[in-house]
Amino acid sequence: TFKKITHKRPMLSLGNVYNCDDVEGFVARVLVETGHEDFCVELKIDGLAMSAWYQEGRFNVAVTRGDGATGEDVTHNVRTIKSLPLIIQEAREVEIRGEVYLPRKNFERINQLKTEAGEELFANPRNAAAGTIRQLDSSVASSRGLDAFWYYFPDAESFGLDSHYEALQWMKSMGFKINPLTRLCSGKDEVWQAIEEFADLRNNLPYEIDGIVLKADRFTDQKIMGYTAKTPKWATAYKFPAEEALTTVLDIEVQVGRTGALTPVARLAPVFVGGVTVTNATLHNQDEIDRKDVRVGDTVVVRRAGDVIPEVARVVLEKRPQPEPPRFDLHRRHPVCPVCGSKVAKQDEESAWRCSGGLFCPAQRKQALWHFASRRAMDIEGLGDKLVEQLVDQQLVHTPADLYRLKLADLANLERMGDKSANNLLAAIEQSKKTTLARFIYALGIRNVGETTAKDMARHFGTLDEFMAADAERLQQVRDVGPVVAQSIVAFFSEPHNREVIAQLRASGMHWTEHSGEVIQVRPLSGQTFVLTGTLSELSREDAKALLEAFGARVSGSVSKKTSYVVAGAEAGSKLDKARELGVTVLDEQQFLQLLKEYETN
Ligand code: IVH
Repeated sequence: TFKKITHKRPMLSLGNVYNCDDVEGFVARVLVETGHEDFCVELKIDGLAMSAWYQEGRFNVAVTRGDGATGEDVTHNVRTIKSLPLIIQEAREVEIRGEVYLPRKNFERINQLKTEAGEELFANPRNAAAGTIRQLDSSVASSRGLDAFWYYFPDAESFGLDSHYEALQWMKSMGFKINPLTRLCSGKDEVWQAIEEFADLRNNLPYEIDGIVLKADRFTDQKIMGYTAKTPKWATAYKFPAEEALTTVLDIEVQVGRTGALTPVARLAPVFVGGVTVTNATLHNQDEIDRKDVRVGDTVVVRRAGDVIPEVARVVLEKRPQPEPPRFDLHRRHPVCPVCGSKVAKQDEESAWRCSGGLFCPAQRKQALWHFASRRAMDIEGLGDKLVEQLVDQQLVHTPADLYRLKLADLANLERMGDKSANNLLAAIEQSKKTTLARFIYALGIRNVGETTAKDMARHFGTLDEFMAADAERLQQVRDVGPVVAQSIVAFFSEPHNREVIAQLRASGMHWTEHSGEVIQVRPLSGQTFVLTGTLSELSREDAKALLEAFGARVSGSVSKKTSYVVAGAEAGSKLDKARELGVTVLDEQQFLQLLKEYETN
């Protein structure tokens, strides 16, 4: 629904450090490489990264970070930010980047309204900001009161500026809102002091922050430090330690996940930690419960770090009630699935007990459908968990294929479903038929097949039929795929029910473009190990190594029985003797070059 826009330069993220030693390490690295230790220390605003463009002095476009390469056009919503200058005194094209956030007060007000309306609440201000920026109707953003701090001017150098701090001042002079808690620091002590001072202010700020950002200030130093694929090496984020609080375990309940895993969840007396009220925390599985020895009635330390799901860190044993409550035994409590009554079983090496009901189990069916419809899968807008729940409970939908058979009349009896939303839902379902092979594979919800694996599969096989026909061995030719993933895929397709659902989905008109798959190049020297010794006259040792590796060979530093060839240049020493001793084939330089030439022409 939003226009996709490719960023002119990728929007990077930041590496993280977690303590004083790491901070010192970062400062030291910059000092060693650049000879300077001047840093701009800033708050890390907990919102959404945004890129905003100005043309001939006018605000033009705003784009979300997206996957870093391509984002979504949310100009209409960013325009509602009152602090954003719509006109600047600069005729040249300007891009600035910063963080769009929702002030705490506005977040509380929105959740208050949601409580009154009986709607689901936003978990935190960042989620609320994310939900707001994705609204089609800009009046929602306008009424919720988004705001933004701007912290990056990528073109600063071509505007004659020399440092990040100067860039911030320039942005300020143009009317952009810059965070006032920004400080130039020299050396590790000043940097750490700023971090401590800013961290102390954290809970009293009118917006949420999740760390402190350190940036090498001079552009010349930034250039020397450079970038990794995803982050600048001249900047890093200090992340606040997790917050902890005490509470009691009221009960341990069990949830059934998409793949049937029975997950124990601790119901907790509500406790405020890390900016949110926590009422439950996952206990993962029986092993985890045993390791921490969590029992109903225990006093526990709950920990929440950043946007990570809250967890039970440990039990305060001294506070365990007397007489001691019994250990929690998941299987004894639930010998059958609490949702469908099927047997609960465990594969030896696994920690999870699983419901054996498969898609017969409504809990698994609901989650499978919800996953199928989710944004990164078939992206059926409006088909959230509440609706899936009703569709399954009312027996309207059993498998994903049933979604494509829904009629307006089927939806009429669902709660909170007017004609308009029913029509929108049917349109969204229809629209989802046009998809990509990668999304479709991901949507199937095959165990151990996440988004990346699904993409790799689609790229590798090109067509669904090729993918479905592949055996475990062929599957393992795909990048990063090992026996476990391959086995999950084979098991999924060997289930006739799954093949049937796929056939029905295709018959309903689901489509994507297919291609003929990747040509896998078996590299000519795969599996061979070379050892280089002595001096080669026609190419350097590095080049020889690079060539061999390009042909798939491994280059090792020592000779063993496993060595395939030893290449002996002039003045070869002990390695040559060892090769002769072990009977390893020895090539002189001419023979070696001949061998490389053969592979080059092949
Ligand atoms: S600098 C190349 N500065 O943190 C520059 N980022 O974890 C990259 N963020 O994606 C960003 N406050 O959304 C920078 N003062 C600040 C920031 C900040 C918040 C966010 C930003 C980024 C994420 C990285």
